[in-house]
Amino acid sequence: MLTWDEPQQNSASPAQGALAERSLQSMGGTSASPQSASASASASASASATAPALAVAADLYSQRAASTARVRAEDKRIINCSVDVNQLVPFKYKWAWDKYLASCANHWMPQEVNMSRDIAMWKDPNGLTDDERLIIKRNLGFFTTADSLAANNIVLGTYRHITNPECRQYLLRQAFEEAIHTHAYQYIVESIGLDESEIFNSYHEITSIREKDEFLIPFIDTLTNPEFRTSAFGGSERNDQELLRSIIVFACLMEGLFFYVGFTQILSMGRQNKMTGAAEQYQYILRDESMHTNFGIDLVNQIKLENPHLWTPEFKRELTGLFHQAVELEYRYAEDTMPRGVLGLNASMFKGYLRFIANRRAVQIGLDAIFPNEENPFPWMSEMIDLKKERNFFETRVIEYQSGGALSWE
Ligand SMILES: [Fe+2]
Ligand SMILES: [Fe+2]
Repeated sequence: MLTWDEPQQNSASPAQGALAERSLQSMGGTSASPQSASASASASASASATAPALAVAADLYSQRAASTARVRAEDKRIINCSVDVNQLVPFKYKWAWDKYLASCANHWMPQEVNMSRDIAMWKDPNGLTDDERLIIKRNLGFFTTADSLAANNIVLGTYRHITNPECRQYLLRQAFEEAIHTHAYQYIVESIGLDESEIFNSYHEITSIREKDEFLIPFIDTLTNPEFRTSAFGGSERNDQELLRSIIVFACLMEGLFFYVGFTQILSMGRQNKMTGAAEQYQYILRDESMHTNFGIDLVNQIKLENPHLWTPEFKRELTGLFHQAVELEYRYAEDTMPRGVLGLNASMFKGYLRFIANRRAVQIGLDAIFPNEENPFPWMSEMIDLKKERNFFETRVIEYQSGGALSWE
């Protein structure tokens, strides 16, 4: 199960005491298996060896600056940095700030999308086939809980271990977008009157959905474990590698792969003029998720640049194995959601698509292509990601959001 973080105390001595105890435990490092991350935290290190690290750890996790010296961009690092995380500028990673601005410019809310045609189509006994209805229910069954997992992973896990304020600023925006996505899925469920209990419990009850989540949860649990620390804060270098692995799994395999059968199915419906409201919601979500994946990949590549020792041949082999596993799980989900051909799609078409996407993600983080020479059977999906709001495919009303700085006050 996802572990719940304990509230951090702000007062100096009790917090430091508790932290010292946790950090002493985590100094033993954690094993390569995320399942055993918390179990392997042992109190093997001596108190004298941990003392300097504990002082820094207390500063990060209580959010007090390690130093009162003025912040210099060149001192910033993505992980294990002791520069004050409360000062956004000067920027070092402009790409993170630019993605934050781009995400804000793409702001949308689920209630802006007109769902009336979807409601009529769902209620009409001849509006959709049984196979099309199954796709919608399975999609919502996966996504209603997947985005909560994503939000929890950011807020309770990743955020704490990223020691850079411009990246944290993006993660805050991303966390809010995950809340909007969960809201959008709930809004579709409510609009067309699906059985909420059936849909929201799918991740317990539908094997192909449960298996995807079970693959992900150990990597989330690693980062949300309150005892988990990166190397500069009382943990081991193995922990730095575990953090990097969890970020890769989350960006490349969850947001970058596990969402794509579902997105393709619902956007196919929209292209055939079916469930256009749901399809429009998915289109906005796909655009957000694509940005999340790209941010995660930039994060991974920057961490690699700053910590090249983490990128070992063994680690790369392990990652390649995880990519294979994820493609297999997502393919099983495709088979489960499409027992027969539907909407001009069938499960076997997705085998090629998933391999194509997996190759792309692998190359983006500097791994070799995993399934060479795969081609994209759905080139229109790239257009969906790139569509601008003002050229909205479904031509429904869209509100533009502008920042104060972009408004004219004349
Ligand atoms: Fe999301
Ligand atoms: Fe996301």
